[in-house]
Amino acid sequence: MIRAFDAFSLPLLRWLDPPPIRPRPDDAKLAIRAFGLNFSNPIGMAAGFDKSAEVPDSLLRLGFGFVEVGTVTPKPQTGNPRPRLFRLERDQAVVNRMGFNNDGADTVLRRLAGRAHFGGIVGVNVGANRDAADRVADYVRLIEIFAPVASYFTVNVSSPNTPGLRNLQQASALDDLLARVIDARERVRHNAGDSPVLLKIAPDLSLAELDDVVHIARSRRVDGMIVANTTVARPSTLREQSRAREQGGLSGRPLFRLSTRMVAETYVRAEGAFPLVGVGGIDSGGAALTKIRAGASLIQLYSSLIYKGLGLVDDIKNDLASTLLRTGRDSLSEIVGADAATITAEEWPV
Ligand SMILES: Cc1cc2nc3c(=O)[nH]c(=O)nc-3n(C[C@H](O)[C@H](O)[C@H](O)COP(=O)(O)O)c2cc1C
Repeated sequence: MIRAFDAFSLPLLRWLDPPPIRPRPDDAKLAIRAFGLNFSNPIGMAAGFDKSAEVPDSLLRLGFGFVEVGTVTPKPQTGNPRPRLFRLERDQAVVNRMGFNNDGADTVLRRLAGRAHFGGIVGVNVGANRDAADRVADYVRLIEIFAPVASYFTVNVSSPNTPGLRNLQQASALDDLLARVIDARERVRHNAGDSPVLLKIAPDLSLAELDDVVHIARSRRVDGMIVANTTVARPSTLREQSRAREQGGLSGRPLFRLSTRMVAETYVRAEGAFPLVGVGGIDSGGAALTKIRAGASLIQLYSSLIYKGLGLVDDIKNDLASTLLRTGRDSLSEIVGADAATITAEEWPV
């Protein structure tokens, strides 16, 4: 029997690339505009699956509205020793400590330049090499290198698997990083065109830290935020206790409530200054809807695809479209953030 994971593996997609199918055109009601881009549907492939931009067109053809490649670092990296990815089957979760394994900026640029004529929204998630002497300089270089081919950038300061990386979320470090990243984007804008810059944060920030992060993101005029990366927390409810003790970031169903709460908390602080991408534990149409009502204009998936396979993308699209039809709405934008205030008043999720 083909297991869900086999239906969603990088080697299979590489072998099939490009797959011999054309996606059905998306229901017009699923279209959404965010940070200057027109998405035919709001479901994206989250960063970390196609780290080196090997199969973005396969993923687009399989029905995603956008694909985020990366995290890409300037130099190639092998990442952490294996094993580095652990399935928590009974929790529908994953722990990973991949450590930014990727083919490096030159190779990834060559691939993205080679597929640019296909179009579609392909964002580039950027990060620093583990051994970088000046981490901020790594981000700046990547913005300069990828601006001609990136539909948008994600500044990833939230991976738990590069020691010290998450310190870039602290106020003064973040302000300096974003100032230099936005400055780099402006410098290359004339030749490379406009590339929106999004900031991807950890779900483990305190609310006081989130206050600072959103304030800085607004004052530096980033174009959006992605909420959230994997968590270093381990909910006591996890059933696969021994695998849960593995070091790394936890994703999948047990991340849903915390990451959704963080979407709502970010939404109320952003006050409409920029749109949010909600990611963390989405594994059904209902979960997608909850994330959108918490404040996400767009959503991304990763772990649930490992358990449920790629059919989930169509299932979520169908559910969202039928919800809009049933409730007499023309667009998802009408419900983005509808529940944010309510969610922020609930007890903190454990
Ligand atoms: C194996 C694996 C590798 C990941 N690698 C990255 C990465 O390189 N960069 C990044 O920003 N997020 C990475 N992520 C985090 C995902 O993009 C996403 O934020 C997180 O998994 C929560 O979504 P999910 O619950 O749908 O998986 C990775 C996640 C997994 C499971």
